[in-house]
Amino acid sequence: MSLVDIRREGHVCLLTLQREEKLNALSGAMERELLEALGGDDVRTSRCVVLTGAGKAFSAGADINEFADADAASIAAYYADTGDVYERFAALSMPTIAAIHGWCLGGGLELALAADFRVADETAAFGLPEVELGILPSSGGAYRLVRLVGPGRAKELMLLRRRFNASEALAFGVVSEVVPAGKAAGRALGLAGELAELPPLAVETIKRAADLIPEASREAAMLIERLGYAALAQTDEATHAVDDFTRRDRRP
Ligand code: COA
Repeated sequence: MSLVDIRREGHVCLLTLQREEKLNALSGAMERELLEALGGDDVRTSRCVVLTGAGKAFSAGADINEFADADAASIAAYYADTGDVYERFAALSMPTIAAIHGWCLGGGLELALAADFRVADETAAFGLPEVELGILPSSGGAYRLVRLVGPGRAKELMLLRRRFNASEALAFGVVSEVVPAGKAAGRALGLAGELAELPPLAVETIKRAADLIPEASREAAMLIERLGYAALAQTDEATHAVDDFTRRDRRP
C-alpha cells in the first residue's frame, strides 16, 4: 500500500498520510512519496491541496528510528533529498490546508505549519518534543512558529515541552478553526472548494505576497503589492470579473 494516498475531486486534491500503525510517523519513504505526490499532476493542476492523516493521528512526527547515527554529512544529505518536502509543500503555488486530528507532533506539526491554513478537530493534540530528543524543529518549523505566534510563545512551546490541545492552538493562532471530532477533513475540503472557486492567479499572488511581505521592507512590500496588482489587473480573470460587476443591473 502506498504511504500517501492521492485523491483528486474537481479542482481539489486530498493527500492522506497512510502509516496508521505508526501514527503516520514521517519516515524517509513517506517523505519521498509525499515529494512525488507534490510534483505529480494531481497536485500541480489543482487549485487547493488538503493534507490529512489516516487513522488516529495527523502525524506523530519524524520517524525517530531513522534518527540514529545522524551526523552532519547524513543530515545535509537528508535535506538535499527527502527532507526538502516541508519547503516544497510550503512553496506550492495553490493554497494548502492541513486537516488535523489526534497527534500532531514534531515533524507532523512542522508539516502542518508549512500549510497556509490549519483546521483541527477537538481530538487534536499538538507539541514539539524535539528538545527532549536533544534536537530542535529544523524543517522550517521553528521559523514558521516564531513568525506565526511570536518568539515568546514559540519559546514556551518549544522549550517547555508543552503539549497543547485544539482550543489552545486556536487561542495561540496555530490553527484557524476547531471543529467537532471527525470533522476536520470535511471542513478543510469545504474551505478548499471555496478557494477553488476564486480566480486562481489572484489567489496565488495573494498567497505569495502574504509569504513574502513579512520578509520585506515597507517599500519592497508596497512594490510587491503594486506590481502584483499591475500584473493581475491585465489578466482575463480580472477583466472579466470587473466587466461582470460593471454590467450588473443594480436597479432597485
Ligand atoms: N517515530 C517512529 N515511530 C513512532 C513515532 C515516531 N515519531 N511515534 C509513534 N511511533 C510508533 C510507536 O513506536 C508504535 O510502534 P509499535 O506499535 O511498533 O511499537 C506506534 O507508532 C504507536 O505508538 P505508541 O507509542 O504505541 O502509541 P501511544 O498512543 O502509546 O503514544 C505518542 C503516542 C505519540 C505519545 C508516542 O507514540 C510518542 O511519544 N511518539 C513520539 C513522538 C515524538 O517525539 N515525535 C517527535 C519526533 S521529532
